Amino acid sequence: MYTNCTFAVNDRVATLTVNRPDKLNALNAATIGELEQAIVEVTSRDDIGGLIVTGAGKAFIAGADISELAKQTPVDAKNRALRGQRIFAMFERSRKPVIAAVNGFALGGGCELAMSCHFRIASEFAKFGQPEVKLGICPGYGGTQRLPRLIGKGRALQLLLTGEMIDAAEALRIGLVNQVLPAADLLPRADALLRQIMANGPLAVGMCIEAVQYGYDAPLDEGLNLEANHFAILAGTQDMREGTAAFLDKRAPAFTGR
Ligand code: COA
Repeated sequence: MYTNCTFAVNDRVATLTVNRPDKLNALNAATIGELEQAIVEVTSRDDIGGLIVTGAGKAFIAGADISELAKQTPVDAKNRALRGQRIFAMFERSRKPVIAAVNGFALGGGCELAMSCHFRIASEFAKFGQPEVKLGICPGYGGTQRLPRLIGKGRALQLLLTGEMIDAAEALRIGLVNQVLPAADLLPRADALLRQIMANGPLAVGMCIEAVQYGYDAPLDEGLNLEANHFAILAGTQDMREGTAAFLDKRAPAFTGR
């Protein structure tokens, strides 16, 4: 049951739309719970191959709900951060592809959720920022950790310390998003990208995500060993037999995820 979000599945592509447009899709506790519900559905349902995350109206997500933050104690704040971090990590660790289609404001927790997706595309109207310092707080859903990993320490610190908003063109220039499109083309492009990924071997896609996710912060030797092990595991799958046989037979592969 979704109240603050909508969740729809169309021919194996799920779309999660945060839907509190009158509050610019701000993440209150209930909405964060629905994000968890959605990512659990995506990872557990066999009829879903990938996920698009987007927002209704002029915002993607304008951050955590400031009316809830205003009342929090240090204990509440710690619990809030840990809960959000745990749920956002589920998006990042999903072995099914997750694309953020950023349609508008992606601020604070919105920018952090977008960064927890596997990659981001944006409409020309998207705006990004980590404005927490303007409220006298710091990011709590991974912004201080994922932003420097994605765009580099100096650029991340500039965004984190100034709290400034950047437009889609600047987000593209610094590598925060992979592509900027006219608004009407955003969701069709996300859908096409997911379908391109989903046409590949699903076990192989999952292994790529895992190797990048777990190898990224590991020493190179450990990451390379992880990759070699994943390469070996995939050699035992029907999908590898099918993918290589289809190439040699000059036909399209029919992957089963086995
Ligand atoms: N939490 C709670 N409510 C929020 C919100 C948030 N993060 N962001 C926007 N809203 C609410 C506004 O309070 C307003 O509600 P109201 O109509 O009941 O007064 C409504 O959404 C529309 O926002 P508004 O500020 O009027 O829109 P705008 O187009 O003038 O400005 C922003 C857009 C994004 C620049 C502005 O809303 C903003 O700065 N939001 C906060 C961003 C932020 O600091 N996020 C990080 C939180 S940790």
